[in-house]
Amino acid sequence: MDLTINRRDFIKNGTLALTASALMTTPTWASQGKKARMAFIGVGLRGRNHVKNTLAFPEAEITAICDVDPKAIAATQDMLRKAGRKEAAVYGKSERDFENMVKRDDIDGVVIATPWEWHVPMALATMKAGKYAGLEVSATVKLQESWDLVDTYEKTGAHCMLLENVCYRRDVMAVLNMVRQNLFGEILHLQCGYQHDLREVKFNNGQQAHGGGVEFGAKAISEAHWRTQHSVDRNGDLYPTHGLGPVAEMVNINRGNQFLHLTSMASKGVGLHKYIVDNGGPNHPNAKVNFKLGDVVQTMIKCANGETILITHDTNSPRPYSLGFRVQGANGLWMDDGDQIYVEKKSKPHEWEADAEYMKTYDHPYWQQAAKEAEGAGHGGMDYFVIRDFINSVKNKTAPPIDVYDAAAWSAISPLSEESIAKGSTAIQIPDFTRGKWKTRKPVFAI
Ligand SMILES: NC(=O)c1ccc[n+]([C@@H]2O[C@H](COP(=O)([O-])OP(=O)(O)OC[C@H]3O[C@@H](n4cnc5c(N)ncnc54)[C@H](O)[C@@H]3O)[C@@H](O)[C@H]2O)c1
Repeated sequence: MDLTINRRDFIKNGTLALTASALMTTPTWASQGKKARMAFIGVGLRGRNHVKNTLAFPEAEITAICDVDPKAIAATQDMLRKAGRKEAAVYGKSERDFENMVKRDDIDGVVIATPWEWHVPMALATMKAGKYAGLEVSATVKLQESWDLVDTYEKTGAHCMLLENVCYRRDVMAVLNMVRQNLFGEILHLQCGYQHDLREVKFNNGQQAHGGGVEFGAKAISEAHWRTQHSVDRNGDLYPTHGLGPVAEMVNINRGNQFLHLTSMASKGVGLHKYIVDNGGPNHPNAKVNFKLGDVVQTMIKCANGETILITHDTNSPRPYSLGFRVQGANGLWMDDGDQIYVEKKSKPHEWEADAEYMKTYDHPYWQQAAKEAEGAGHGGMDYFVIRDFINSVKNKTAPPIDVYDAAAWSAISPLSEESIAKGSTAIQIPDFTRGKWKTRKPVFAI
């Protein structure tokens, strides 16, 4: 295997060229003396993970937290005390108390980690108050919400970053480097998805966050309290951005490229009902629930520059976790499953190679410089980088690397896939949320 980077490959096409010196320029997080005053809406499992990672940054103060669950508030204050920080001001007396919190004048940025249906009302209130919104995935549930995010950003000038942590996964960032350095040649096709057995996330016993029972909704806690209802009401890709975000960065969506249209198809749905019957018995009241969500939902997107993207949503059946990435160009391809790669003239003809050496050679400078700090942050370290980029944008008052147009376009795949399935898998146009600006916007993520 020859991993020498060909200089002509490296300087590919002008717009995407990343020189070694560009990769190694002084990082923005090195800027001194500035503070980021942070607040959090939703300090459940995910929100507290962001709090924990924020505590690693001395320049980030945590001034206020909002949650309707007093236990979540107490657990967060405990974390702050143990870290030697001041307790935060508390909000959460009602479901709309976040509106009071975001008006405080000692907040610069707000991390939002609440149930999906609350994301957009909370992000809009944050932006209207002139603060940076850091929004968990997916950003939206309905198509109109994507437009609401974009319109509010354009009206207020307040930024919204989608906190898509998978964009920062070490192998994914290395592959982004491979793409930018033209290892695979012109990109043709990408695959990705969310293939995660969530049955113990969608059901619990009301006492523990995962499993132990077959309750959801009012009798359950954590994600089963709110997430499972989406599987009752909706048939589509309910969670597209973990897969789509990383590959959208590889083909410069909203920055020289654009989603054009999609087609979706769903298999039948048996997994959730089967889980209830197997674990709660056929007479459990939830055995009567009709889940609309198909077990395997596939969505194919066509892009303006000719690439296709296949996204799979697969959360109701027993299976090992995989985001199922495949990044394929005219010279070769990488596959997440099996950690394998094939590059013409480097690999033995017609044979897969292990990707480990390539991962080392193309390791992204983010990881080369801060792997140690990222250790233990959650999800293999990528959670450290996503919150670091958000804090840096807040602190330096700069545009975030994953912005409101990305939040709008990536998340819109969810309602649009529902529409396609409802119409017999017909092709659905994907709106241009940049209103034409994609033609001139330049790639910024992790450059
Ligand atoms: N990026 C990732 O890897 C990742 C991982 C897990 C979850 N998430 C996302 O994070 C979000 C939260 O997920 P979670 O697992 O923490 O769920 P969770 O149910 O554990 O936490 C949600 C919290 O929001 C609070 N909340 C609900 N309505 C509220 C309101 N109106 N005002 C204030 N607080 C309110 C709840 O009391 C709860 O504490 C979801 O959008 C989920 O998709 C992302």
